[in-house]
Amino acid sequence: MSLHSMLFSSLAIGAQSQAFELANFNVTDALVQQGVNLSALPELAPLADRSSDFACHIACDSLQTLYGADAVDYDDEPSYTSFTGAYWSTIPAEVKPSCIFRPSTPASVSVLVLIARLSQCPFAVKSGGHSAFAGGASIEGGVTVSLENLREVRLAADRETVAVQPGNTWSRVLSKLNDTGAGLTYGLVCDNVASFDVSTYTEAYLVALFPEKYVLGVVTASGVVVNASPTQFPDLYWALRGGGNNFGIVVSFNMMTRPLPNDLLFGGTRVFAEANFPQVAKAYIDMSLNSAQDPKAGGWVVWLSVGGQRLALTELWYAAPLAAGADAPLLSAFYDIEAVSDSTKTRGHAEYVRDGHSFYGQRQVYYVLSVKLAAHPEFAARTVDVFWDAVGGALGGVKGVLPLLIWQHVTEASLKASKRNGGIPWGLIRLAGLYLSCSWRLVYKTMSDIMKQIKQESRDLGIENDWVYMNYASQYQDVIASYGAENKERLKRVAEMYDPRGVFQTLQPGYFKLDRAAKPDARYFSH
Ligand SMILES: *[C@@H]1O[C@H](CO)[C@@H](O)[C@H](O)[C@H]1NC(C)=O
Ligand SMILES: *[C@@H]1O[C@H](CO)[C@@H](O)[C@H](O)[C@H]1NC(C)=O
Ligand SMILES: *[C@@H]1O[C@H](CO)[C@@H](O)[C@H](O)[C@H]1NC(C)=O
Repeated sequence: MSLHSMLFSSLAIGAQSQAFELANFNVTDALVQQGVNLSALPELAPLADRSSDFACHIACDSLQTLYGADAVDYDDEPSYTSFTGAYWSTIPAEVKPSCIFRPSTPASVSVLVLIARLSQCPFAVKSGGHSAFAGGASIEGGVTVSLENLREVRLAADRETVAVQPGNTWSRVLSKLNDTGAGLTYGLVCDNVASFDVSTYTEAYLVALFPEKYVLGVVTASGVVVNASPTQFPDLYWALRGGGNNFGIVVSFNMMTRPLPNDLLFGGTRVFAEANFPQVAKAYIDMSLNSAQDPKAGGWVVWLSVGGQRLALTELWYAAPLAAGADAPLLSAFYDIEAVSDSTKTRGHAEYVRDGHSFYGQRQVYYVLSVKLAAHPEFAARTVDVFWDAVGGALGGVKGVLPLLIWQHVTEASLKASKRNGGIPWGLIRLAGLYLSCSWRLVYKTMSDIMKQIKQESRDLGIENDWVYMNYASQYQDVIASYGAENKERLKRVAEMYDPRGVFQTLQPGYFKLDRAAKPDARYFSH
């Protein structure tokens, strides 16, 4: 029986019984059906009915027997050290997994999940690795699964969609599309295809979600790979759009393409000195509040202090070529303000993303919250005051610290797009907002205090917003709880349906789980 027909027959069984995974699901049998010869893995066979202290040693050895030495690295190999040394944040880089597994096919991801179940060895999955804390894309003593070899970028014959596997970077995806000569592009300035945030970017940058076109390939707990879309497994599809790593491992993203003639768009960084901060804040808030006028324009602001000098870095973009930034009405206010430096220009999208800065090698830390700004736009500037006060005091003596406060708006177009195809797990958000994200070295408490104070002040004004953006949340934040009780319950029902034994709750313990923060700790701000 081919893998394909096997998958279809198991799906048929699931549909008949109204259960995705049968109560008598046998992991050993599922591995045999994946073509795994269990007699060739003698250590694994006796594990069927028990767990073992050597679980991960056995899981790693079995993966190595099945997929070869190149697919599995142990800590005595240089490839292990170069892998752990290449994380974006050095915090997950300090984690020591039992082994690193590099699957090359979705089927080998299925086998990994089943072997983890059989051996009870925990795992974590890394694609781009943009999570800042330990345990998200790395796991102490378990199997860290690197998706780097899942790098397919396949443009459909009609060029309307592209299938992208999660081991890609945006730079690679966009270069591949540019190379097709199709003049197509889409995407955002981000180093991680798998950072699956459908509603945070402008429409023009957005992975557009059309019912018949948008599909996620997902490895589920029983090892079955399904395509989740608004029409196939729509509940799973809904849950994956914001529900995190609680339902399966996404091994393919089918995305809509957008024509972009000659790959050209406008973007870059315009930097301002402290004397102009009030105008910069006003320009950004005006752009956010008026975002419905032109979904092509977007940006974010980074407030920071370098060597005692305070700066505002604005990343501005426009999803079409511009002769000058001032030509786009939503961006023009930024060009009325004198800048310290400016790299904004029209260039290739692939080139823009490739030139984008990702600060590797720092102890990065995130903390995030959102507010409904429309009723009190002046509150945005208040958050910067809270930030300067806190970092100027507590962090003054911390050597090498680089505190940043980032404003990023959720535009009208993004909110509208996120409601298509059944919405998303935090679909209750109605008003355009602004979220704040900080990333710096050390000092969780200061960040937590800043968040507490901003949250309290936003509550006092009645503009607080519960939604916490998962990708930039700290390990202490209970992200799923921030989606509201109703969405949380629905997410749990979906998990119960596709993963009745809670494989992704227990064997993949890192990151934000359905019932908890990644690392619950009542001393810190949660949500
Ligand atoms: C699972 O299947 C294997 C092989 O068919 C069998 O030896 C084992 O007893 C089964 N396990 C359970 C718990 O039924
Ligand atoms: C399975 O593995 C055993 C032990 O290595 C071997 O004798 C047998 O031929 C293998 N079976 C198949 C179908 O490859
Ligand atoms: C995109 O394609 C154009 C035309 O083929 C080429 O000149 C350009 O260098 C490409 N850009 C990148 C970043 O690959």
